[in-house]
Amino acid sequence: MIFTVAIDGPAAAGKGTISRAVAERFGFAHLDTGALYRAVGVKGGDPVHAARSLTPADMMREDLRTLEAGQAASRVAVIPEVRAALLEFQRQFARREGGAVLDGRDIGTVICPEAEVKLFVTASAEVRARRRWLELGGDAAPKSLADVLVEVRERDARDMGRADAPLRPASDAVTLDTSELSADEAVAVACAAVKAAL
Ligand code: C5P
Repeated sequence: MIFTVAIDGPAAAGKGTISRAVAERFGFAHLDTGALYRAVGVKGGDPVHAARSLTPADMMREDLRTLEAGQAASRVAVIPEVRAALLEFQRQFARREGGAVLDGRDIGTVICPEAEVKLFVTASAEVRARRRWLELGGDAAPKSLADVLVEVRERDARDMGRADAPLRPASDAVTLDTSELSADEAVAVACAAVKAAL
């Protein structure tokens, strides 16, 4: 069975949690496409070369989840040759046998416009910044909530403002605003959407 669930949206909206839960529930493979851009961003050197020569080891680095890696990722993600170098791998993954969930920024619009289910997962910038800040340790975090909010807004602006594959909902995507939802509630809505399309 070929079946793709495309989950797009801004940073810290809940895409990762929802994608992992949907993949587990339906037995689909999951690809966190942000990790590709993070790996390119932290690798250093020429980003186009880094994207063309990405290895599984690059994807397993421990520093991929930091705020700095996220910022580095969004800077290399504006480069069309970087996006082009990562495209085919993502497309193949999306149409692999057995079902796939991909989360990112352009899955429903560019990578897999034919995806059977498209979700645009979002939440207010304040809610997303607070989630990131809590993940970083809350009061023990190395950054203030206000600083994290500035970074979230910067990354949103870069991701939505770029010319190549900007972050936006596909015309046929279902928007899921998680600002007022628990993780379990958001997962339940996403699973119901997948079930209805199966
Ligand atoms: O989702 P995550 O926060 O890991 O993504 C890091 C950055 O990678 C995003 O801010 C975005 O600039 C870029 N990205 C992208 N297209 C994707 C996934 C991520 O441009 N499909």
